Amino acid sequence: MKITVLPGDGIGPEVTREAVIIMKDVASAFGIEIETEQHLIGGAAIREKGSPLPKDTIDSCLKSDAVLLGAVGSPEFDHLPPHERPEVGLLDLRKALGGFANLRPAKAVPALIDSSPLRPEIFAGTDLLIVRELLGGLYFGTPRGFDDGRSGGYNTMRYSVPEIERVARVAFESAQGRKQKVTSVDKANVLETSQIWRETVTRVAADYPSVELEHLFVDACAMHLVTSPTQFDVILTENLFGDILSDEAAVLTGSLGMLASATIGSAIGLYEPVHGSAPQIAGRNIANPLGTIASAAMLLRYSAKNETAAAVIENAIDKVLEEGYRTADIAPENYSQTVSTEEMGSLVAERAAGSVKRTTSHAV
Ligand code: IPM
Ligand code: MN
Repeated sequence: MKITVLPGDGIGPEVTREAVIIMKDVASAFGIEIETEQHLIGGAAIREKGSPLPKDTIDSCLKSDAVLLGAVGSPEFDHLPPHERPEVGLLDLRKALGGFANLRPAKAVPALIDSSPLRPEIFAGTDLLIVRELLGGLYFGTPRGFDDGRSGGYNTMRYSVPEIERVARVAFESAQGRKQKVTSVDKANVLETSQIWRETVTRVAADYPSVELEHLFVDACAMHLVTSPTQFDVILTENLFGDILSDEAAVLTGSLGMLASATIGSAIGLYEPVHGSAPQIAGRNIANPLGTIASAAMLLRYSAKNETAAAVIENAIDKVLEEGYRTADIAPENYSQTVSTEEMGSLVAERAAGSVKRTTSHAV
């Protein structure tokens, strides 16, 4: 497989380094040779090449089987208008790759139950999947811009029926392999786009009779996520709502650093952690690489179509956490098993290698 690696900004390079090592090791143990090519995106690309998505970057991505991305965003560009910022590199990349369904699983990790500010009896057992529409809504709708003299600004939220249908199918198909429930989240009491969303999702649901469908307003969903998160299986929602709700869902796992994502729906999958570039801790070897490592596992699941290899990485993450190792974001104060980004990566790599050895010796 050919994979383009885009470390990006802030902690991106540190966390992707660990993920790439583990992904290559595990893949090769399963007979998948991975060839990686690294390119610039975001602020790093603006600084070196004057563009957040340089031509060699997009060319390499379009020739790949999948793309693994760290993070984009840097405070030094905060003063720029949206179309000149690092983030536009990521949005243009998403558009060019064409994946429209962004899968963001959030699971309460038993070993991290004390790292969450929520009470264990509220969120223990949480296992949900956010299916976020990724190519529509306010992020891409036109017209957009500033009024004369920056006296105001505007964006457009627009969804067509086919755009809703295709992402809804991903949600229902995901639910079929899980707990058979889809919660479609909208703001149909106020927004026209949400009314179309609700009608369309209801229509698509008829093709999936085993899956239960419920509708929830986004404000209520935000509350339910922290008061009774175990009620959810698959949450299906539009782009901006999904962006916001997935950060909130991260609290359920212990840390935003834990959350992985996969963008599917086109030939080239895009895999990225949910967290941002965290510039305040960048370069200090303390960032949590697990979200990116788990994203690499999703790459092996959806792009390499190797469920066993993906599970090896995910189980290795669980094992390291059960053994008590923590990066600073999920460690209690003055904790004896606090490890660096690199140490966390090596631990997961070792545990994964150990379980690959066991798996293959069983096979023999
Ligand atoms: C995310 C991020 C991005 C988004 C930013 C960096 C453009 O917050 O992937 O959730 O808003 O989609
Ligand atoms: Mn976000």
